[in-house]
Amino acid sequence: MTKRTTTPGPLRRRLALVATAVGTALLLASCGSDTELPQNTLDPEGPWARKIDDLWWLVFWIAVVIFVLVAVALAYSIWKFRERPGDEDRKIRQLHGNTRLEILWTIIPAVLLAVLAVPTVATVFALAEEPPDALQVSVVGHQWWWEYEYPEFGIVTANELHIPVETEVYLTMTSTDVIHSYWVPKLNGKMDAVPNRTSFLNLYADNVTPPDDPLLGQCAEFCGLSHANMLIKVYVHDEQGFADWVAAQQRAAPVPTEGPAAAGWETFNLVCTACHAATVDNAGTIETVGQQLAPNLTHFGSRQYFAGAWFLNTPDNVHDWLRDPTVMKPMAPQLNDLAAGRILGMPNFGLDEEEIAGLQALLELWQ
Ligand code: CUA
Repeated sequence: MTKRTTTPGPLRRRLALVATAVGTALLLASCGSDTELPQNTLDPEGPWARKIDDLWWLVFWIAVVIFVLVAVALAYSIWKFRERPGDEDRKIRQLHGNTRLEILWTIIPAVLLAVLAVPTVATVFALAEEPPDALQVSVVGHQWWWEYEYPEFGIVTANELHIPVETEVYLTMTSTDVIHSYWVPKLNGKMDAVPNRTSFLNLYADNVTPPDDPLLGQCAEFCGLSHANMLIKVYVHDEQGFADWVAAQQRAAPVPTEGPAAAGWETFNLVCTACHAATVDNAGTIETVGQQLAPNLTHFGSRQYFAGAWFLNTPDNVHDWLRDPTVMKPMAPQLNDLAAGRILGMPNFGLDEEEIAGLQALLELWQ
């Protein structure tokens, strides 16, 4: 019989200690709710997201109990039935075809799943309920930006959703091209925006967001080249702040009559209106010009971001965008079919510096 080598006691104890410490650290790190993570679904900021969070933790702790039971049973079996000196010829009892065991380990998981199905299905139905008197917003997914319409206020905007705090908001969603998915993790779960279909999503925010620090969301369904650059920004206002925002958005954009902005208005009508719309006040006449295939630019100057909320609305960024948008964001404008209303991005129009300066002056005017 050969003498078996084992790890000496103190070293073994030290290894066990290190393993325990590392394991505990990992566990604690994953448990901590890190408010620095902008898209943390485990850090809900409203009741809809909290329902999902509650369900997640319930399932998590049930899973932890099962894990501990299985792990303890496994560890005990490994220790209890370990090979001892003289065991080399030991016959292991075979369990194949043990009906009682097989029924048992089929029934236990089935019962567990049935138990978990109760709160899961209840949550699914609870999330789908439309609250009374909710603020209605229509959402349209586009390659690669989001369009919002507030029917009761006559407002159309893009990428940045503005909502009042502690108010039910009911999104009615669809898409013009491919399937997108609307996901603001701190407010609710994902909901697909599907062409020729209507889907619904509830939002409710507990807290007002700082003016330049909106909640972050993301298109969560792969939708082509700029899927990753199709962001969602949610600005949560107090009652007065939201009323102010609505009032500002309801004003028509001024049509300038002199200076670079007036030249920009000419360029806008020659180039931009093929895809972009704007509601303007033209010497007292309120009219909407242009096609609404790309973001409505009436209040472009008031937005913090543009192009799928991928870029900050700074003079440098807007200049570079007008210079050549295709180098800033992956798009496929060569596939644009204006007659069919299909837009896959903004082409490079080869604008000169004067035209760019004019458009920038116009867009800055359009708060
Ligand atoms: Cu839209 Cu991904």
